[in-house]
Amino acid sequence: MGDPTNDGVDGAAATGVDQAPGPPLPAERDRVLIAYASQGGSTAQIAQAIGLALLDAGCDIDVRPARQVERLTGFTCVVVGSALYHGVWLPEAFKFLRRHRAALAKLPVWLFDSGPLDRSAEGHLLPLPRGVATLAASIGVRGHITFGGKLGRTDLTVAERLLVIEGRGGDYRNFEDIRGWAEQIARALAAERA
Ligand SMILES: Cc1cc2nc3c(=O)[nH]c(=O)nc-3n(C[C@H](O)[C@H](O)[C@H](O)COP(=O)(O)O)c2cc1C
Repeated sequence: MGDPTNDGVDGAAATGVDQAPGPPLPAERDRVLIAYASQGGSTAQIAQAIGLALLDAGCDIDVRPARQVERLTGFTCVVVGSALYHGVWLPEAFKFLRRHRAALAKLPVWLFDSGPLDRSAEGHLLPLPRGVATLAASIGVRGHITFGGKLGRTDLTVAERLLVIEGRGGDYRNFEDIRGWAEQIARALAAERA
């Protein structure tokens, strides 16, 4: 009869007692904040897609509305995004850039916005709204991209209904491009660590 306590698992290892040192800890991971402003929810989904791609690439992520972020302590990279309305960013995202300008200037930062209700953003670099561009220059952002937007067909405001009547409703977000852009960020971060 064998030892009745022997269930085939090394007892020391199973209890964590007297273990030999394990493999070295993995290199410290990037911790990326994806802060966004979204009125109708479609930019929030873009932020989440960026977060998932960065997670898959081995980063720790925190995806949250810009207005909920109090400080940037602990983050090694920040991605900031906003929906475009009437040619400008939503106030929460703009205020986020302004409030955290000094901390952001010490981190790698990328910006995105979402809006065009057509394919005009695909493969083209569109300019940032002027106020955002000035802040972006003072922060020294690494890059900016515009993604197509979405105008849903439910719960529309009067302004949105007018755009739908003009035939501009629809979903122009390209999630392959969104993922590809996030993967470029992950590669840039990995290159800096190497
Ligand atoms: C009243 C109104 C104004 C808009 N103005 C712009 C604009 O100036 N530029 C742009 O690219 N998209 C514009 N859009 C499209 C929105 O940016 C698009 O629907 C976006 O996906 C909304 O994001 P959200 O769902 O995160 O709020 C506008 C949409 C509405 C309803």
